[in-house]
Amino acid sequence: MSNNSNSNADKLAFERIRQWLNKSCGMHYPERKQALLEQRLRRVCNAENFSSFEELADVLEQGHSFDVQSTVISAAATNHTYFFREPLVLNYFRDVILPALGNEARIWSAAASTGDEAYTIAIIAAEAKGIEWVKNNLSILGTDIDKHVIAHAEKGIYRENALENTPDLIIRHYFDALNNGQYRVNKHLCRACTFRRLNLKTQPYPFNNKFDVVFCRNVLYYFDEVHQKQVLENIYDVTKQGGWLITSVTVSLRHLNTRWVNIVGSVYRKL
Ligand SMILES: C[S@@+](CC[C@H](N)C(=O)[O-])C[C@H]1O[C@@H](n2cnc3c(N)ncnc32)[C@H](O)[C@@H]1O
Repeated sequence: MSNNSNSNADKLAFERIRQWLNKSCGMHYPERKQALLEQRLRRVCNAENFSSFEELADVLEQGHSFDVQSTVISAAATNHTYFFREPLVLNYFRDVILPALGNEARIWSAAASTGDEAYTIAIIAAEAKGIEWVKNNLSILGTDIDKHVIAHAEKGIYRENALENTPDLIIRHYFDALNNGQYRVNKHLCRACTFRRLNLKTQPYPFNNKFDVVFCRNVLYYFDEVHQKQVLENIYDVTKQGGWLITSVTVSLRHLNTRWVNIVGSVYRKL
């Protein structure tokens, strides 16, 4: 990339890319995170041979290159996730929500990243209701805007650090240890989980059947408040009456005035 990085043209182009991310996927990079975004976009420019942010902004706005759009989205997204994240709410899911579900259950991991959350849900269900129930009665859909993480989720292979919070007994029971030190999710869990690319900002959501439970964790902070409300209302529309929404412990929806009823902590219900 050229060394005119601090020029006005560069700043304007950076702003155009920031706005493109906001408009196309709801991603909102506040002032304090702009240096991080700039660093990530510079990496894209170097890897894809763009000589300036301006060139990159032009390609994004013209919308002709799906590959460049995907690369920018992947670079801008923070995919960090791991198995058994935020155990308190997972315990609530196991102890209160899971026993209240009917014989068949549909669960959506709405920002699935590499699939750790979806497989964690499948493991909790298998522990509570047995693997046969999971095989025959549970379907878990994991979606994400980033096609790279979806490909990873479909493979179901993880490094040890993704399993740091996972008890050894669970690892032994539900994963196959591979020669290279990685772990593959067992095939029954894989069959219960499907992964697709989906932009939470694109509405209406393309589902024929509604969900019993939606996990929407560690993604809302990407969006500004207008998009947060939109996403939550759209999720409400694809949730069954009496269904549940689980958000991250750090997010409060109270000020957003949605139709969700808060049950406890980060657990909400469509009542
Ligand atoms: C930090 S991960 C959260 C993973 C998991 N839910 C968890 O709590 O561990 C956030 C994910 O949101 C995805 N994401 C960001 N914007 C999105 C959008 N507009 N639509 C769908 N997914 C999005 C990112 O690609 C990223 O994989």
